Amino acid sequence: MPEQANRRRFLKLSALMTAASSCTSNKAVEEEGPGQLGKAVSAYGERSPFEKVARMTPDVKNPQVASSRTPLADIYGIITPNSLHFERHHSGVPGINPADHRLMIHGMVDRPLVFTLAELKRLPSVSRVHFVECSGNSGSEWSAKGAPDVIRAHGLASCSEWTGVPLKTLLEEAGVKPEAKWLVAEGADACKMSRSIPLNKAMDDILVAYAQNGEAIRPEQGYPLRLVVPGWEGNINVKWLRRIKVSDTPYYTKDETSKYTELMPDGKAWIFTWPMDAKSFITYPSGGQKVDGAGFLEITGLAWSGRGKIAKVEVSTDGGQTWQAAALQEPVFSRAFTRFRLPWQWDGKEATIVSRAIDETGYVQPAREELGAVRGKNSNYHNNATKPWKIAVDGSVTNA
Ligand code: CO
Repeated sequence: MPEQANRRRFLKLSALMTAASSCTSNKAVEEEGPGQLGKAVSAYGERSPFEKVARMTPDVKNPQVASSRTPLADIYGIITPNSLHFERHHSGVPGINPADHRLMIHGMVDRPLVFTLAELKRLPSVSRVHFVECSGNSGSEWSAKGAPDVIRAHGLASCSEWTGVPLKTLLEEAGVKPEAKWLVAEGADACKMSRSIPLNKAMDDILVAYAQNGEAIRPEQGYPLRLVVPGWEGNINVKWLRRIKVSDTPYYTKDETSKYTELMPDGKAWIFTWPMDAKSFITYPSGGQKVDGAGFLEITGLAWSGRGKIAKVEVSTDGGQTWQAAALQEPVFSRAFTRFRLPWQWDGKEATIVSRAIDETGYVQPAREELGAVRGKNSNYHNNATKPWKIAVDGSVTNA
């Protein structure tokens, strides 16, 4: 029986390939063929002029509200190209000369230290793949309407390979006093973005990063130095990092009191809500796309958890009545985007597709109603509800 199933699938796929190869005999392809010498080498690469995928930038003129979104339905694998990493700044992007930049570590330490970038780069380094997600990501999903496509729903998240020095190394050099429990990290942007961080997280897995996907961190990602706080909300991954003060108490900075708190149904606010809970969504087929006819297609999407590795992603093609396990692309990294895939024969009838992630702690991504039952209607942050898409008989995909 498996053999028969394979042959069926092969026949359907080859029908698609035949259709594709007839397209390739068009004039444009022949004209750009190997018959003539192409362009010379370049010092810094550019993509093909035919590629147009870009960040969504609602307001590029006002540095006080600057944010941009990653087009997660249009990128491949798990790594976000540096040019497409989302941005969220609170007072624009500072232009910092790395030769003039310093990182100071002081407060409750035996030896206050100041590092130049060159000094940091001499220290033992590590590279790790981690997502960064703004806790305001998927904020539009709190409304009954929800967002119509992946970029508006979930584009404030990206995933990179970060390289830098473990913060633990620097803190041990400075000699943390036994009564210290916290630190406050400060950026060199105009608003001096600052966040309190428990010392045990700092001694666990935080990086002081200077590189992203093999090159220096981009200015909008914190050049020349940023914190990477694996799995925790984007805002705490302080960019343009210039100061770490060790303390026995949190600082209750403006970015952890007036913002980035959760207003609960009883009128109280949760503060210091750091980890990003497990989330997933389907990127193909997804809102705004059109499936070109019934037949075979590969459902694919992204999942991640701020509490560890993704253990499983399940996909439903019948609106959540039944679920199938999707394949997870290896390697699966902790606190990183995880690509999932599921082959599917679409019968051409209206269908609602949805994914749900389960992380290695056993946490299951909630449906919108389940999340709302706990969090109420006043929240702005930390929406990790599942995201169903409806495929209509004409193949158009909309927010279900
Ligand atoms: Co939070």
